[in-house]
Amino acid sequence: MSSSTRNKKLLSWVDDMATLCQPESVIWCDGTDAEWNAMWDLMLSSGTATKLNEAKRPNSYLVRSVPADVARVEERTFICSEKEEDAGPTNNWADPKEMQQTLNGLFSGCMKGRTLYVIPFSMGPVGSDIAQIGIELTDSPYVVTNMHIMARVGQAVLDVLGDEGDFVPCLHSVGAPLTAGQKDVPWPCNPDNRYIVHYPETREIWSFGSGYGGNALLGKKCFALRIASSMARDEGWLAEHMLILKLTNPEGEAQYIAGAFPSACGKTNLAMLTSTIPGWKVETIGDDICWMKFGEDGRLYAINPEAGFFGVAPGTSMESNANAMLTMQENTIFTNVALTDDGDVWWEGMTDEAPDNLTDWKGNDWVAGTQAAHPNSRFTAHAAQCPVIADEWNDPKGVPISAILMGGRRASIVPLVTEARDWKHGTFFGTIIASEMTAAAFGEIGKLRRDPMAMLPFCGYNMADYWGHWLKMGEQENVKMPKIYYVNWFRKNEQDKFMWPGFGENSRVLKWIFERCNGTAEAVETAIGNMPTSDGIDFSGLNLSEEDSVNLMRVDTEGWLAELEGIEDYYATFGEHLPAELTTQVNGLRSRLQASKQKF
Ligand code: OXD
Ligand code: MN
Repeated sequence: MSSSTRNKKLLSWVDDMATLCQPESVIWCDGTDAEWNAMWDLMLSSGTATKLNEAKRPNSYLVRSVPADVARVEERTFICSEKEEDAGPTNNWADPKEMQQTLNGLFSGCMKGRTLYVIPFSMGPVGSDIAQIGIELTDSPYVVTNMHIMARVGQAVLDVLGDEGDFVPCLHSVGAPLTAGQKDVPWPCNPDNRYIVHYPETREIWSFGSGYGGNALLGKKCFALRIASSMARDEGWLAEHMLILKLTNPEGEAQYIAGAFPSACGKTNLAMLTSTIPGWKVETIGDDICWMKFGEDGRLYAINPEAGFFGVAPGTSMESNANAMLTMQENTIFTNVALTDDGDVWWEGMTDEAPDNLTDWKGNDWVAGTQAAHPNSRFTAHAAQCPVIADEWNDPKGVPISAILMGGRRASIVPLVTEARDWKHGTFFGTIIASEMTAAAFGEIGKLRRDPMAMLPFCGYNMADYWGHWLKMGEQENVKMPKIYYVNWFRKNEQDKFMWPGFGENSRVLKWIFERCNGTAEAVETAIGNMPTSDGIDFSGLNLSEEDSVNLMRVDTEGWLAELEGIEDYYATFGEHLPAELTTQVNGLRSRLQASKQKF
């Protein structure tokens, strides 16, 4: 384990942080197999990890967190811009100076008895013009191994950084110093003092008290979305919570599609979908984050800044997502799943029947009827292991995006697919994404959670200014913006049943979008946007009732008129930051809906 650099900013920052945190030692990570193995040896001996059966799941490990540290903590996530209004009404703001004082107190001596690992990482292919470099300092070997999978780590990154290059400093501590002779616990953390803090103006991240996922793997949500979204605004690009897929038709022509869906709407499944239409193929570029910059031809080129998947395990099976299952066959970290008697993993939804004996995610003998795996249990697996990863997933140029999908979980009103009239209208679609809440954790079941562009927990600045940035991107000269589609796999019929089968059948919708992009499919103009003609999407073999196939696409004029009121109330919460164009969009939609009412 060693890496070297002469970058002065980096060396002096590491020195300063080591002085603050007082670790026992400092190790520069190089991302090698030897380092991976050394980290697991440490975690095996501290009781943090269990090695899985080498014959069944080679080079893979199970890690159990404590029950208090199992998910992102939105209420402990802060955007510390100088001015509160720059964080906007959807973020937790805290005064940067006051926050810094709090953090200085917490971080002082917080790594006593631990090792500080310096992880140089690239978000995106090393050296790509769209990629960015970060350095994470952490006292968690679990973070080191996850970063090996989720980012490109090691000397190559320092070489690209060079002596003068800039990077995003990401400081992380589990917040649990050890006194001399004190034995460590398997999952050190400090749940009463969690702070996930972002300084968008100075582009820094400080994370304290949690060892879990999005709170601790700072390249992911903290850097690649919150900090990157504010970099993107300043520099004229887009950092988005989107999957990226490649769709190829039977003639071998390919189009690249990005898609914004709130958490738990099936992004990973869509990114790895197996097409049910003969001759059509979906391949994966990314399942969670998409960075897009204009190429010389005026199109938006996208990279997946990540190198792995940090996917939700429950519900993943050979039926729902065989490609994800095959991706995690080896070299994988499992967090908070159940353990089988033969040293393999299991979770709810993996198979119809649970195995006879299991150890649950808390490490106890599993009792049937109780949760075996935590609902937010995860697999961390290399993107390169995905059987349908596209060859160009690692291309530093990125891939040209033809279409962007916006989707939420809506039982009513929102049709299966609607094409935006233009970029502005598509931006409007993005701002109105919402989902009916299914998990009590987010609030009242059935109530709408508005999640614009699926960025609600991830936008690093004022959400309305972010919408303004989207609009501005499309106003530049000589740009060819992607088409935008509002999709909804979750519309229900009067019997409260989902009308659309989803999963692989979503390829039927993707095919229409592809054909719109290459100019071979027709559309019908409606008040809410362009929709497929009656034969635009092939429903054959789906056993849809006549009624459902009509209702999936129905424009619910009254429903939309009522929806507009909710949208206006929501918009009003952004005050003067709301771009005037969005009010124009609301008014335009209302008058089109009213005009269509008069026609019938
Ligand atoms: C994720 C999320 O974990 O969006 O990707 O919550
Ligand atoms: Mn996500």
